[in-house]
Amino acid sequence: SKGEYRHYMLKEIFEQPKVIEAALEGRLSANSVLVESFGPDAQALFQRTRQVHIIACGTSYHAGLVARYWLERYAGVPVQVEVASEYRYRHPVVPEGTLFVSLSQSGETADTLAALRFAKTLDYIGSLAICNVPGSSLVRESDITLMTRAGPEIGVASTKAFTTQLVALMLLTLSVSKAKGQAEYPDIIAALRTLPEVCQRVLALDRQIEILSQAFAEKHHALFLGRGAHYPIALEGALKLKEISYIHAEAYPAGELKHGPLALVDSEMPVISVAPNDDLLEKLKSNLQEVRARGGQLFVFADESVGINAQEDIRVLTLPHVHEALAPLLYTLPLQLLSYHVAVLKGTDVDQPRNLAKSVTVE
Ligand code: F6R
Repeated sequence: SKGEYRHYMLKEIFEQPKVIEAALEGRLSANSVLVESFGPDAQALFQRTRQVHIIACGTSYHAGLVARYWLERYAGVPVQVEVASEYRYRHPVVPEGTLFVSLSQSGETADTLAALRFAKTLDYIGSLAICNVPGSSLVRESDITLMTRAGPEIGVASTKAFTTQLVALMLLTLSVSKAKGQAEYPDIIAALRTLPEVCQRVLALDRQIEILSQAFAEKHHALFLGRGAHYPIALEGALKLKEISYIHAEAYPAGELKHGPLALVDSEMPVISVAPNDDLLEKLKSNLQEVRARGGQLFVFADESVGINAQEDIRVLTLPHVHEALAPLLYTLPLQLLSYHVAVLKGTDVDQPRNLAKSVTVE
């Protein structure tokens, strides 16, 4: 039941601290990930992994895009990420030592399942499914699995399933790195342990986000910007807004702005930007100046230490500091809440958006 919440989506957003904790439960040792969490065959498979292909649809695909930044940076493994409906009709080249990874909340998405079956006819070293439904087709048909433990997700717009996929993908990243005898990251492990509490602090900003959302209710378009691993978070923010508020939204890596989308920016265009305190911050700040110079309305979700101050044309929501590696996960939360509140203001059917189904079991 929805309990005290007005919609399942809101309940599921607020469940994230708890389900993130569940996703970590029993899977960490003092300083590293317990590779056995992926099953007894995982260690041998990860040792042989020289590349990773990640396949998924929709929100799950966005989680895969984040994982590319993580696996390449922290495990030194090249990664390709693709939507299942494209992958299954290509002729993919599979280099030696490639692990196939599918991501799916339901484990029944037709294209993702077909992609796995197709991959089995190719030269992969094995398949891993990251999934929220035990016993689903994807889980049954993959060599190894990791459950995301988000619990049932009723709202059609995926929220807690996405953030627990990110947790699972960070566990994968650290496990592959460790199995290959590369770095261990005790700092990221420590940050993972504090993540539920940090998420709780972000959710406490709900009222402020609700106030921000008023600026969107009358808009027809919105632009989301991010850089690095926050580009997929911008994509996810735009998808959530489209799905439940029916506002047309697009996401760009901030560096692409001047290569086209800047032409859309005027005083009617809200531009939402995620600005964690990472090494791309200075570049992002100059991208934001480009928006201001065209009269765009800026909404910045920023790390408390960033020093972007609210001004007449910039509204800033400050987020607690978190380890850079986990910032994409944390910055997802305010974007979920923003879409939610915009949809409520617009009076749409938040849990059952028009034309969409929770599980897409047809092609
Ligand atoms: C968006 C959303 C969809 C799903 C997609 C894949 O909020 O939920 O984009 O992510 O249909 O579904 P799963 O993860 O079940 O394969």
